[in-house]
Amino acid sequence: MVDLIGQYNKIKDEIDQAVIDVIRSSKYINGPEVKLFGEELEKYLGAKHVIPCANGTDALQVAMMALGLKPGDEVITASFTYVATAEVIALLGLTPILVDCDPVTFTLDPEQVEAAITGKTKAIVPVHLFGQCADMERIMQIAEKHNLYVIEDNAQAIGAEYTFSDNKKVKAGTIGTIGCTSFFPSKNLGCYGDGGAIFTNDDDIAAKIRMIANHGQRVRYYHDSIGVNSRLDSMQAAILRVKLRYFDSYLTARQQAAKYYNDAFADVAELTAPRTSSKSTHVYHQYTLITERINRDEMQKALAEKGIPSMIYYPVPLHMQKAYQSERYPEGSLPVTEQLCKSVISLPIHTELDAEQQDVIIDGVKSFIRTESGILN
Ligand SMILES: Cc1ncc(COP(=O)(O)O)c(C=O)c1O
Repeated sequence: MVDLIGQYNKIKDEIDQAVIDVIRSSKYINGPEVKLFGEELEKYLGAKHVIPCANGTDALQVAMMALGLKPGDEVITASFTYVATAEVIALLGLTPILVDCDPVTFTLDPEQVEAAITGKTKAIVPVHLFGQCADMERIMQIAEKHNLYVIEDNAQAIGAEYTFSDNKKVKAGTIGTIGCTSFFPSKNLGCYGDGGAIFTNDDDIAAKIRMIANHGQRVRYYHDSIGVNSRLDSMQAAILRVKLRYFDSYLTARQQAAKYYNDAFADVAELTAPRTSSKSTHVYHQYTLITERINRDEMQKALAEKGIPSMIYYPVPLHMQKAYQSERYPEGSLPVTEQLCKSVISLPIHTELDAEQQDVIIDGVKSFIRTESGILN
């Protein structure tokens, strides 16, 4: 699905040097690379504060802790997402309220968000799924009206740009109260291990986030609140500093690969290529097709037999997972999400994909559809 080695080989000298420099510095934890990376990412995103941390899941957890959310508070988020989003809500004793998504962008449906608000609601967590932003303008309007925090789960859309109706353009993750991201290796900006970051434009919230991510201490060995240990290590920061210099070209490569697929699938009635929101650019963390009248699982098998990888993101909606199911969500209660889980398939997309490889993948998909077993009656 990704070619991390191909990407590394192109910047090998710079990466190797960056790693060796950290080893020789012996500043492995909280070294200067971490601070420099944070500052460079602040500049790239136009965010006042970027606080690096250990991974994207921690980023979400620390964000919620910094907002002082209390057990029993309700947090509205998507059911069509990676589990981490709801997991941290539940872990903190908060109540995840899972709502349906928009069938075109696969991101949180703002009207369903508003309908789910109760007296206990404290925050909304839009997920910028697969590489494009949720309808942040509408979500921010709803949040302001009901006095709610907004935590953007930006693990999949770092680098995407959102345009408000007054034409103001901002980077994904810098719109809500707090933005969170992951630098998991396969992410658009990935390191060579685990990593994450939290963004905010609010000085007080930034100070709380820094404190909570560092065992609740502002001054060493003086703990003002219960915190966690969540650090990006210096080596990962040094690697990310190199990759940030290439980041925009990585996004362009993904967008070009997506266009190549889109053109190839335009005449296939059984497939719907990813559609982009009019307000957000798409940075294609995933290239996800909706299939219709196709036995999707058979297609995946047929592709695998030809050595073509594909993934189902996500096969089971969160509201139907054992860990999260409740009477609140009987089967059929979030129909868009449920239908997407049955019909989507993601094809390889990454910075190193070339036309020859894409032709093989496209041919694999089209030839399956042409077979009799491909089309469902
Ligand atoms: C939408 C979303 N949220 C959160 C995370 C968690 O990030 P991490 O794996 O770095 O903890 C991921 C990563 O896969 C994700 O895709």
